[in-house]
Amino acid sequence: MKLWLKLMNQETTPTPKKRIFSGVQPTGNLTIGNYLGAIKNWTALQNDYECIYCVVNQHAITVRQDPAHLRRATYETLAVYLAAGLDPEKNTLFIQSHVPAHAELAWVLNCYTMFGELSRMTQFKDKSAKHADNINAGLFTYPVLMAADILLYQANLVPVGIDQKQHVELTRDIANRFNAIFPDTFTIPEPYLPRTGTKIASLQDPTKKMSKSDENENATVRILDDKDTIIRKFKRAVTDSDSVVRYGEEKPGISNLMTIYSCFTGKDFAEIEKEFDGKGYGDFKMAVGEACADALTPVRTRFQELMADKAYLESIAKAGAEHAAYIARKTLSKVYRKVGFVEFKA
Ligand code: TYM
Repeated sequence: MKLWLKLMNQETTPTPKKRIFSGVQPTGNLTIGNYLGAIKNWTALQNDYECIYCVVNQHAITVRQDPAHLRRATYETLAVYLAAGLDPEKNTLFIQSHVPAHAELAWVLNCYTMFGELSRMTQFKDKSAKHADNINAGLFTYPVLMAADILLYQANLVPVGIDQKQHVELTRDIANRFNAIFPDTFTIPEPYLPRTGTKIASLQDPTKKMSKSDENENATVRILDDKDTIIRKFKRAVTDSDSVVRYGEEKPGISNLMTIYSCFTGKDFAEIEKEFDGKGYGDFKMAVGEACADALTPVRTRFQELMADKAYLESIAKAGAEHAAYIARKTLSKVYRKVGFVEFKA
């Protein structure tokens, strides 16, 4: 092709946007860990990427769920996505069980994933210790379903907190193995971690991750907590006997609060240290609580409006699932062809 024609084409053909996929389990009231490690960052990506976000209800049943609660939590999670600022015109938002291709691809990928690989997953080890009476096969193969979620959409990037990084790395290994046998099947995804907030710690034990399922309510701040509750929880947060607001490994409690404050205000650690120089922990904890509550109050208000309009949530989930299913079906058909499944002729 002539050079001028090539240049003209480059100017007129926009580069396709990179694709993003991520999800949250509807297993309880979401925490500021889920918000700062994942959902808040998703809202910053919606203009520059093609984003697909799923409520992963099939993952949720790897531990026992009350069915009525799971149904409610599924719509609540979708409502949190919207309330946090994900625009349904710009993002595809859907519920995992509405797109059967996830379970279908997971089966195929199960046959390309090694027992040893799954045994090494730290989340499997943690969860099987926690639910010793229910170490089911789904809990073990959970990362394979997650790989199917990501690979179905040929996602380039997967924005997650640090606890999910190992699963995204396994997804890459599975995809590379499959591609080595059947070339050009899957895009190899990369984990996409936020600059700060990849691991928000428990307010009661800062050596542990803040987790939705923590039984100590003071350990977690929920996205939907009201202002008084948020401030009370921060006031009770475990710190150390020192009284200097400084970031450091030896001060995990204060460092965690500084991370949370930094995520909500955009200030870096040096600025925060300066702001609280000569002030005690009481003032600092109050400021963290205020910053967190101020950021989350509009999310809670919008969430309540959305939950009052079930028909709207259902319409978002339906449109999202239709679009997701269209993309997913293309990948699944390709995989079925490659592995040698005969086509269904209607
Ligand atoms: P889940 O539901 O446990 O968490 C959802 C997202 O929140 C992040 N996160 C945190 N980030 C920082 N600090 C914390 N304390 C914290 N707690 C949770 C998680 O890293 C995650 O990004 N297996 C996934 C869901 C999933 C998925 C996927 C994610 C299923 N399929 C495909 C990405 C792509 C999970 O259980 O996340």
